[in-house]
Amino acid sequence: MENKPLRLGAKRDAALKRAAEIVAKAWGEFYVAREHEPLVEPSLAATLKEALPERPTDPIQTLDLAAKVLDTSLAHSRPRFMAWIGSSGLEIGALGDLLAHSYDINLAIDSRAATELERQTLRWLGAFVGFPVGGGAFTSGGTISNITALAAARERAIPGSRKRGLMNVRPAIYCSAEVHYSVRRGVELLGLGSDCIRAIPIDTNHRMQSAVLTESLERDLRDGITPIAVIATSGTTLTGAIDPINEIADICQRFGVWLHIDGAYGLPAAGVSEKRSAFSGIERADSVSVDAHKWMFVPKACSALMVRDRSTLLATFSHNESYMLHSGESGNAVDETLEYSRPLRALKLWLAFKTHGAEEFRLAIAANLAQAQALYDAAKADPRFEVLPFRPELSVAPVRYGKNTSDQFQTLLVQRLQEDGRVFVSAAEIEGRIWMRPCFTNFRTSEADALSLLEVAADVAKSLHDIDGDHS
Ligand SMILES: Cc1ncc(COP(=O)(O)O)c(C=O)c1O
Repeated sequence: MENKPLRLGAKRDAALKRAAEIVAKAWGEFYVAREHEPLVEPSLAATLKEALPERPTDPIQTLDLAAKVLDTSLAHSRPRFMAWIGSSGLEIGALGDLLAHSYDINLAIDSRAATELERQTLRWLGAFVGFPVGGGAFTSGGTISNITALAAARERAIPGSRKRGLMNVRPAIYCSAEVHYSVRRGVELLGLGSDCIRAIPIDTNHRMQSAVLTESLERDLRDGITPIAVIATSGTTLTGAIDPINEIADICQRFGVWLHIDGAYGLPAAGVSEKRSAFSGIERADSVSVDAHKWMFVPKACSALMVRDRSTLLATFSHNESYMLHSGESGNAVDETLEYSRPLRALKLWLAFKTHGAEEFRLAIAANLAQAQALYDAAKADPRFEVLPFRPELSVAPVRYGKNTSDQFQTLLVQRLQEDGRVFVSAAEIEGRIWMRPCFTNFRTSEADALSLLEVAADVAKSLHDIDGDHS
């Protein structure tokens, strides 16, 4: 008998049908929060320790098992997942991934229509947030987008550094004290050394103090240090603060320094008209990053790094390898980014824009913004809770339970909430104290879902009486 390995053969149609059934069931359930999040049962745990299978198993059985694993996992798609910065597995985006992965196109080279589609999607995303896109690429996340931008900034500030290293230049990177730590990782990986990071203090609203940025740049220039880039965050992971972009852009212009905007989380809110002014000046940046897998709702991984001037990326990343010859001056897609083999991540966002239109995105983002305001107001009016002294800028609305409770109490409360599973929230240290830090980036979350945190937290807190005496 002829051996035809790795084909589903006659079982293919049934497998596709079952996958569709599993997905339809999941999508149906994702709109309503579960009573509790299931823990991994012993039999499933044992299955997940089995050795490498040598022989085939029926695909329907394996798909059902995969569904069980997924259903026993923390899915960001559920409406009461408010931990860290979630996403929501937008349905049309998930279909986009299925299509993209089935065709398995590689964007390392010019892949014809797919390459054009990626460029068009970048332009659309730029139009949505208000950034004039000259070039860029979709990446695997905000971390890689930030590193890509930092690499381009390094090459512009120290031409030839990609080949000759830092050549005794002493570099400096400027960002707010609450920048995402991916910047630190990038600076370390690029050989700049994280000691060169100038963590500029923040104001009472957690925004970079631009006057201190100016002083820091002046001091460094006097000392013979070479500024590489200023990273403005819009908004920060911790509280959603938006650094004053126009003021920072003025400073960058004056000193001739690269301005990167880390908009991994917050920049989609620039597409909402009532929020646009908070992002004013982004069009002046050299580069911006947006994680479409956060607040553009599509499944991971889908980040975009956009630059105003494509040649800055080509100067940083282009190669002419013997197996990657260029046709003319156009360059390959790989010449604009770090990754070599690269999937068509743009398809899910392209399909999502086409299917829903930009206005539906604006409405969904505006709903999340309103949920954070509603939670802030409700917690502020409730004597059992404490809120920060400033309103949420974006969709992060930290709350503490009890007026006189300890950090240990808040940490345990979050742990118990995560075990309870009715809402899933994470803890964060803000201004030296531990807070529950809900963040809303899910189009399935309703205001009732957002507000449910208060009642569930109060309920779970009752069981923690022994930790702190007074929760009043
Ligand atoms: C502001 C900011 N930048 C960068 C990142 C890193 O993004 P990713 O997890 O996609 O690498 C995050 C993640 O939360 C973020 O909030």
